[in-house]
Amino acid sequence: MNITRNDVDNDFMQLKGLMKVGNDSTPSYFSTYDNIYLFTNDRLKDIFEPLDVTQGILTVTGSGDQALMAILKGAKNVKMFDINKLAKYFALFKFSAVSCLSYDEFIKLYKINKPFSNYVAGGFLTNVDTYLYEKVCSNLENTVALFFELLFDVMINATICEKFNLINVKHYPKLSGYLTRKNYEKLQENMKKLTSVDFVDCNIFDLNKNLGDEKYSAMVFSNISSYFSKCELEKFLKLLKQLELKLTCRGLIQAGYGVKKRNNNDFNIGKRGLDTRFVDANKSCFFEKQSHGMTITYYKPNKRK
Ligand SMILES: C[S@@+](CC[C@H](N)C(=O)[O-])C[C@H]1O[C@@H](n2cnc3c(N)ncnc32)[C@H](O)[C@@H]1O
Repeated sequence: MNITRNDVDNDFMQLKGLMKVGNDSTPSYFSTYDNIYLFTNDRLKDIFEPLDVTQGILTVTGSGDQALMAILKGAKNVKMFDINKLAKYFALFKFSAVSCLSYDEFIKLYKINKPFSNYVAGGFLTNVDTYLYEKVCSNLENTVALFFELLFDVMINATICEKFNLINVKHYPKLSGYLTRKNYEKLQENMKKLTSVDFVDCNIFDLNKNLGDEKYSAMVFSNISSYFSKCELEKFLKLLKQLELKLTCRGLIQAGYGVKKRNNNDFNIGKRGLDTRFVDANKSCFFEKQSHGMTITYYKPNKRK
């Protein structure tokens, strides 16, 4: 995806609107301009354990951490999609940070070692180390660098509430899997071997029309499916069957992630993994793995059933 000056102007105007009013005004859970997950809240090491990413990965953009985990595991071809048009900017900023900052500098810029607090969550751009911030910006393409220069100016004068409207509080850097010194340095080496990194702004349900003939050995959808209505779950199964055609022969799709509770009829949107009754009703399509109280659900391609 080529990000133009026009895209930056438009996206930035929307970002300023988001900071003023938050996303409460929209009925859906996630929208085209929404707050940012600065770090993942999924245990990525466990999610990626059965995945082979070496033939390419298609993943939700989110915080960019799923893509970085894939790169750490040797992916060279990475395609990301997200309904939120702002997600790609923050992922690009993070990729740039990994490429040009030492481990200690990265930790300092993102305030990783501070205890989890409101200050840290909304504080990505509070008392920011300007030398490191500019170093990351100067390593970005011009249009994306412009986005972060504009952001810097806006964040300096923003209220705490406005900052929180932009940066989601729920992030857990340590779950990302690449934030040990050893893994970070390996990730930096692997970043140099990337052959293709691309973004698509789209709803997961529009993925098929936004993909070409390329194939992937892994697809990672985080907990997007936790937010689906019953009707969307049926649509999701149809989508998984279509996406299966874009998998390499040993490929897998991570389709769900979350807490699993039986004997409760509530759909409890967002908190759960892929709905238990839905998985049970389509047993032959899925297998599950437990991870620290969470259930990770994988879609089993037909040829592997
Ligand atoms: C589901 S959220 C939650 C964070 C996630 N647990 C993680 O650790 O990254 C991750 C990302 O999914 C995106 N998203 C949510 N629903 C989506 C959809 N229907 N299509 C595409 N992206 C979606 C959000 O915009 C967000 O950036």
